[in-house]
Amino acid sequence: MKRGLYSVLFAAVVVLVGFGIYAWHPSIAPITPPAKDKFSSDMIAKGKVLAAAGYCSTCHTAPGGKPFAGNYEMHSGFGTIYSSNITPDPTTGIGNWSEEAFSRAMRTGVSRDGSHLLPAFPYEHFNKMTDDDIQAIYAYIMSSVEPVKQAKKENGIPFPLNIRFLQAGWKLLFADTSDFKPNPQKSEQWNRGAYLAEGIAHCGACHTPRNILGGEKRDEMYSGAAIDGWIAPSLTTSSTSPLKWRKQDFFEYLSTGNSIFHGSAGGPMAPVVHDGLAALSKDDIQAIATYFADQAGNVNDDPAQSPALKKAVAAQKLPDLRIHEGARLYAASCQSCHYSKEKLVKGRPLLALGSAVHLDKPTNLINVILDGFRADQGIKGVVMPGFRDALSDEDITALAAYLRQAAGEQPWPNLEKHVGEIRRQPRFEH
Ligand code: HEC
Ligand code: HEC
Ligand code: HEC
Repeated sequence: MKRGLYSVLFAAVVVLVGFGIYAWHPSIAPITPPAKDKFSSDMIAKGKVLAAAGYCSTCHTAPGGKPFAGNYEMHSGFGTIYSSNITPDPTTGIGNWSEEAFSRAMRTGVSRDGSHLLPAFPYEHFNKMTDDDIQAIYAYIMSSVEPVKQAKKENGIPFPLNIRFLQAGWKLLFADTSDFKPNPQKSEQWNRGAYLAEGIAHCGACHTPRNILGGEKRDEMYSGAAIDGWIAPSLTTSSTSPLKWRKQDFFEYLSTGNSIFHGSAGGPMAPVVHDGLAALSKDDIQAIATYFADQAGNVNDDPAQSPALKKAVAAQKLPDLRIHEGARLYAASCQSCHYSKEKLVKGRPLLALGSAVHLDKPTNLINVILDGFRADQGIKGVVMPGFRDALSDEDITALAAYLRQAAGEQPWPNLEKHVGEIRRQPRFEH
């Protein structure tokens, strides 16, 4: 009996020591900031493109704050997280980080001092990049980003989840630390797209569902997930869009912020397109489109001939406005912009085609009605006003229920409750 107890205790000690060894990382010695001319201009230029494609500044710049200086606020199920200052300031930023320290952080989510970083920083994806690409980002930040003195705010994550050491346990369980492996069965273009999407552009960080501890469910890659008060729709064959996404639709959407047969990139997807992918070459966007066309089943049908398109155009025919409150609100507030004849017009999205009315949850539709589309979101130049102050929860419920029904879908349950919740949720700066 006693012997049994001892061996259990012994095993527990071995596991703890083993975990300690696994979790512990040394601090990497600070350096004096490298001279700017240490890096070639080609490398800096490449790093600038990659930093854009990785949305470093979207997450590392607070609204109205200095670029890359951190303290952008993120809300996770576990509490508030603030991004770090990654300007080359030696005291509050990463100015005294060696290339080795930077690369370790990008690959394993360990800070220069050896402490573990939270997966809100998508190191799991950045780890898929080549050494050259990571070095290029380092060269760009160290040589071209303005140093800013600004301390990182304390994350608002409660004890014991705030113990950084325990993050090692999370990594052990959930982090995908494997390198990017090209798929020899696929074309070079597909592999380039996969490299960009899985690595620097980390599409899966938003579009892949997570388990309750926040780990990406890799067997459901890109099948859609909730993020920052929005839904990032499925990009696979499980997409609920009435018209299937083809390669050219992905290309159009990812390069302009809108696909005529689908809709516009709003909320968290807007900076992905306009601050991120916009920096990439057309060839790289084509590569990403090739990769996602494959995820979506490589469809080639002509959408213009699709019965789903005819149905969506027909859905614009209004019922008796005297009795249908939702249709009346649509005719008064939306129809002037959202109306297309047989031939679709860019800048006048046909609502019955967009994912907003076809997703299992009304979240995106309600967000768009409340806050509209700014000029820097969606298609360049066109805007949609927000109706937050013009329409009540009751109005939005009637309108959303009408649009859902007109698009041929079953009613959303508890719609009015969702409208109230989404109206009150913290508004994220995108
Ligand atoms: C989705 C948001 C997000 C994106 C995109 C992002 N980061 Fe971060 N990053 C964070 C957060 C949040 C932290 C702090 C995590 C913590 O407190 O543990 C962080 C921390 C870091 C750190 C560690 C700093 C330190 O002092 O420990 C580095 C380095 C870093 N990011 C570099 C980058 C680079 C380079 C890019 C672009 C290629 C990038 N990040 C993109 C959210 C992001
Ligand atoms: C920061 C989170 C985030 C990242 C990163 C992200 N997306 Fe999205 N994506 C979203 C959200 C949210 C939407 C819904 C936007 C809307 O409906 O206005 C969306 C919408 C889309 C859509 C339209 C889907 C539909 O059926 O309407 C496509 C296509 C898409 N994303 C592709 C990508 C690709 C490719 C990448 C990587 C290059 C990517 N996304 C990265 C959050 C993200
Ligand atoms: C002044 C013109 C205008 C009005 C009025 C307007 N919209 Fe829009 N709406 C737009 C434009 C333009 C876009 C595309 C934005 C972009 O791509 O920049 C859009 C986008 C949308 C989208 C996103 C489409 C998608 O699936 O991606 C939805 C949903 C939407 N509008 C719903 C509505 C509703 C509901 C109303 C009425 C309450 C309304 N809009 C009123 C111009 C308008």
